[in-house]
Amino acid sequence: MSYKLLFVCLGNICRSPAAEGIMNHLIKQAGLSGQITCDSAGTSSYHVGSSPDRRMTAAAHQRGIPLGSRARQFNADDFTTFDLILAMDRDNYLDICALDPDGKYRHKVRLMCDFCTHHALREVPDPYYGGAEGFNQVIDLLIDACAGLLEEIKPQLATRQS
Ligand code: 4NP
Repeated sequence: MSYKLLFVCLGNICRSPAAEGIMNHLIKQAGLSGQITCDSAGTSSYHVGSSPDRRMTAAAHQRGIPLGSRARQFNADDFTTFDLILAMDRDNYLDICALDPDGKYRHKVRLMCDFCTHHALREVPDPYYGGAEGFNQVIDLLIDACAGLLEEIKPQLATRQS
């Protein structure tokens, strides 16, 4: 059974699809395809069914990373489906936790930047209303966070297979 990751932002068209694409890229490079699987979702329903924002797609493409998901809204079933839920910012974190009022799944919900080892920012900034530089910054942060996340998960894979 694969280790299941869910990346969550507000719209599921910028940050979380980029996190999903970057993580899939690192998983493939590490030869761990099939052992870790990724999905993404938004806390809002604003863009359900949409492809990733073309500015995000372009920034990822420049680093050789394809993005290919369709936006969907986070729902309470995701707490049982996924092993770890990564919120891009504190608002996302609180909106996710609001769907788990008893805190039963709180241990599965983390802030993405907790896994950064090179960047000091504690949240992935929302790039939607800014310029191209914001999208590049998101990619840089997410490459750092995804690399840290992969290192954290790797030791857990062996125990899951046995
Ligand atoms: P995301 O970015 O949460 O990273 O997908 C946004 C996308 C859309 C909106 C805000 C942020 N919006 O307000 O429509």
